[in-house]
Amino acid sequence: MKEKGIESIDAMKEDRYVVRPIEKNEENVEAVLRIDHEAFNNVVLNNWTLPAYIRNGRAFGLFVDEMLSGYAIYLRDWNDPGLAYLAEFAIDKAHQGKGYATSLHYLKRDKISKVGPNVDPMNSRALHVHQDKFGFRFVEHCPNEYGRDRDRSYLELDLEKWTG
Ligand SMILES: CC(C)(COP(=O)(O)OP(=O)(O)OC[C@H]1O[C@@H](n2cnc3c(N)ncnc32)[C@H](O)[C@@H]1OP(=O)(O)O)[C@@H](O)C(=O)NCCC(=O)NCCS
Repeated sequence: MKEKGIESIDAMKEDRYVVRPIEKNEENVEAVLRIDHEAFNNVVLNNWTLPAYIRNGRAFGLFVDEMLSGYAIYLRDWNDPGLAYLAEFAIDKAHQGKGYATSLHYLKRDKISKVGPNVDPMNSRALHVHQDKFGFRFVEHCPNEYGRDRDRSYLELDLEKWTG
């Protein structure tokens, strides 16, 4: 019997979707920046920060017919190497609802045991996806995390218990 995570990735391939680490090239950088700018209305990622995330962190892409259509970027925590901080993620509007979270299966294979994102408390969609669909739990409220009145909720998922 196949490992469950591999089955999910195969199913996505049949549907012409696949999640895999992003290779650093001009096309991929442009695609991530386009999705990022559309999703957040301002510049969260840019040409200076994204290459370091791809090369020195872990950046997974959702590829639809080989077109990069979403991403999840993780940083391994310096103090707790079993924790991957989910620094950025977004899906191109045209391709939402297709299982971006399969990137978590890769993290399991990388011996990551916990994943933690900071989420805007007003982003009910992201909170629903994280908490209700994938089982992230609320850990703490972080006031002014990204500047005055830009609070965030820190969530965490125990990957060792995650069966997704
Ligand atoms: C957050 C994001 C990555 C989720 O990906 P997605 O492909 O949209 O996720 P899905 O379509 O699988 O699931 C969306 C769920 O949210 C629900 N939803 C949609 N709008 C919602 C809202 N305003 N409030 C609560 N739930 C909402 C949908 O009904 C669906 O839940 P269901 O499957 O239980 O019916 C995507 O919406 C996105 O890129 N958003 C912009 C960037 C962003 O906010 N990133 C998160 C930063 S922490």
